[in-house]
Amino acid sequence: MSERSPRAEPAPPRWTEVRALAEAVLAQPPERRAALLDRACGGDAPLRAEVEAQVRACERAAQAVGFLAEPAAAFAAPLLAAAPDDVAVVLRATLGARYDVERELGRGGMATVYLARDVRHQRRVALKVLHPELGAALGAERFLREIELTAGLQHPHILPLFDSGRAGGLLYYVMPYVDGETLRTRLTRERQLPLDDALGIAREVADALAYAHARGVVHRDVKPENVLLHDGHALVADFGIALAVREAGGGRMTRTGLSLGTPQYMAPEQASGGRGVDARADVYALGAVTYEMLVGEPPFTGPTAEAVVARMMTETPRGISGQRPSVPLDVEAAVLRAIERLPGDRFVSARAFGDALRAGGRAGGGAGGVWTVPSRMRRGPVLVALAVAAGLASAAGGAAWPSSSRGRA
Ligand SMILES: Nc1ncnc2c1ncn2[C@@H]1O[C@H](COP(=O)(O)OP(=O)(O)O)[C@@H](O)[C@H]1O
Ligand SMILES: [Mg+2]
Repeated sequence: MSERSPRAEPAPPRWTEVRALAEAVLAQPPERRAALLDRACGGDAPLRAEVEAQVRACERAAQAVGFLAEPAAAFAAPLLAAAPDDVAVVLRATLGARYDVERELGRGGMATVYLARDVRHQRRVALKVLHPELGAALGAERFLREIELTAGLQHPHILPLFDSGRAGGLLYYVMPYVDGETLRTRLTRERQLPLDDALGIAREVADALAYAHARGVVHRDVKPENVLLHDGHALVADFGIALAVREAGGGRMTRTGLSLGTPQYMAPEQASGGRGVDARADVYALGAVTYEMLVGEPPFTGPTAEAVVARMMTETPRGISGQRPSVPLDVEAAVLRAIERLPGDRFVSARAFGDALRAGGRAGGGAGGVWTVPSRMRRGPVLVALAVAAGLASAAGGAAWPSSSRGRA
């Protein structure tokens, strides 16, 4: 029989308690603070450490707010040395009255996303904070103005923007919390999705893109991490953020060496830094995501971003039905057309791509005639046979691009 310990482990300090204590400490003159901490925290070292961290963050945030008249790089400077967890503490200190930060949800190349409670509306939200060094490199006003454009998007498959702003030198925006998973998480688990699921998700994302494109907003960062799945339906996140970062960064973005975007899903003209990137870059990205849902890996993989881009510029992707014979030829033709290297060879719009997927999925491989055959499908029978043989030989799984470790929903 196991012996019961006389005392349970102390529960982790609660934020309300930490915050109340931190406020009390901050109200004291510096020489009286240690005594108050001794009294209030007793021997509870974790509680004391949390309260001290909160007090330090509040002081840092107050200092940063004092710099608001300065350029972004200057006011963000005190936060540059802040560890990511300190960012959460700064948020609690500066935004605590509006958003109760609960925990980190995930981290991407540009930002960290926290689960928070919108205090006024009593709802759970995702609070996304740009990494301090990125926030410092951007023109804050410009960034906030640019993302306002995306706040006007209202569509059943676009995750809306609730709020945005600047707190303690950090740039943030707020969106609904999606209690589900990202498409990345699902792909990591299942590798290939059932055909109907893959086509359903692709069509919903195509609808969302077509809606935004009609309003002049291009996503520029369509990838499995930005497709959130809720109740089997797709919600596209981060609409217009990549462009807002680019616009607000100006020349500084290249100087700071920050690379934006994920090469596997990036259209060749976007990966090569071309200026004339339009809606067809999103068509390419959705084509690449759809290819991965069907095949199990994106059209071009490689050990580094440079290797992926080099292959994208010189090679044609492997056919789909050769690797997965259950995929109808019409669907394969539509996906390969979406990822044509030249924008002019792709569908003219996300709407046209979505329609082709709809027709292809229904026809189950029949001749649709809605689009012309993509250049890379115009192959002789020998090449098709070789492609099928190659697909069978690698059916056990080829070399996959190391999947992102960032997608944790
Ligand atoms: N609205 C949201 N609801 C729930 N989880 C989210 C939400 N937005 C983002 N996430 C999670 O946070 C992670 C990081 O998001 P982000 O910073 O946009 O980087 P990325 O999109 O490159 O993964 C996402 O992969 C996802 O797991
Ligand atoms: Mg994202």
